[in-house]
Amino acid sequence: MAIISSRPSGAEGEPAKSRTAPAEPAQRSRAAVQSERAHEDQHEESLRPKSLGDYAGQKDLKAVLGIAVAAAKSRGESLDHLLFYGPPGLGKTSISLILAREMNVQIHLTTAPALERPRDIAGLLVKLQRGDILFIDEIHRLPRITEEILYPAMEDYRLDITIGKGQNARITSVPLPRFTLIGATTRVGALSSPLRDRFGLIQRLRFYDVEELAGIVIRNAVLLNIPIDEPGAAEIARRARGTPRIANRLLKRVRDYAQVEGDGRITEPVACAALELFEVDPRGLDWTDRRLLATLIEHYNGGPVGVESLAAATGEDTQTIEEVYEPYLMQIGYLLRTARGRMASPAAYRHLGYAPPQRFEQVSLLDSIDSAHGRN
Ligand SMILES: Nc1ncnc2c1ncn2[C@@H]1O[C@H](COP(=O)(O)OP(=O)(O)OP(=O)(O)O)[C@@H](O)[C@H]1O
Ligand SMILES: [Mg+2]
Repeated sequence: MAIISSRPSGAEGEPAKSRTAPAEPAQRSRAAVQSERAHEDQHEESLRPKSLGDYAGQKDLKAVLGIAVAAAKSRGESLDHLLFYGPPGLGKTSISLILAREMNVQIHLTTAPALERPRDIAGLLVKLQRGDILFIDEIHRLPRITEEILYPAMEDYRLDITIGKGQNARITSVPLPRFTLIGATTRVGALSSPLRDRFGLIQRLRFYDVEELAGIVIRNAVLLNIPIDEPGAAEIARRARGTPRIANRLLKRVRDYAQVEGDGRITEPVACAALELFEVDPRGLDWTDRRLLATLIEHYNGGPVGVESLAAATGEDTQTIEEVYEPYLMQIGYLLRTARGRMASPAAYRHLGYAPPQRFEQVSLLDSIDSAHGRN
């Protein structure tokens, strides 16, 4: 399998939605954050799972893809177009690279913001060979004009190009080989429905459980030559917010700590002490997570409040809040998205050391009356 990457420089780390290391962002210079990310991106490549066997968790996804690969191979066809969605760092790019390897085809990597002009996407499409995979990251950010070129390309394997301008303009069609488009996105709701409908398979990636993450931590510790025991790996996994990329990042931070403050071995107490120092709390929340919840509780009495107000009060942008921070806070039940806005749950109050307001007690009292009467 060959990997051909045509991302614009600097796009690899996807700065807009990558999480920074868990220190207070305002305390660190932008350059320091960027150089740290570039360094970690290099490592990310070395830790990418190379086969379905190495790819932990996501059982349902792997089952669906296993069938799709076997069927396509037995018919000698290319894979259907695929759309992967889910929060950052759950393995969308990794699974796409594995698929290319499984199908034994070339994969061309690009990202939607790099496809600004019609010639950008046309240039990629004409390079494709039969069966190749075209991977477009952040596909919800495709410019409309590029998206319209993709419709006939995906459906009829045809590239329609407009030649000339104004009255002299005419459309020429160039046949394309059968290829597979893989789109990855953190915001499936932002895709237009004509584009979404052209994908044969749409798959969501899920957060990983602690056991799966601990397995990833141990595998990567072996690859990086870091001595670690199982409780140490489990502690890192518990604080990795269900996300392999974060587990990898924490593993490296804890390794540094173990080498400087201990004998280099990662055990549970070492992992706890290191992560406390880096302000990653026992549920994996970092400074920004806690600030979001604290703002919700202190300034808005627990909500409901619109995401825009929350963004303004915390200095984060709404997209980052929605794509990066909220999914995990909702997954662990600390944040509720209601029609009237975001709310902090009683569990969030308790986690931050506040007493939940009375209205929650009333709600749970009503709930228990309902359930006592079998009406829940
Ligand atoms: N299932 C998995 N098993 C083992 N490691 C994984 C798995 N998924 C992801 N990883 C690790 O997490 C890192 C990030 O994964 P990946 O880049 O595929 O995420 P992504 O979903 O594409 O994120 P983004 O939305 O930011 O592009 C990988 O380099 C790999 O080390
Ligand atoms: Mg990716």
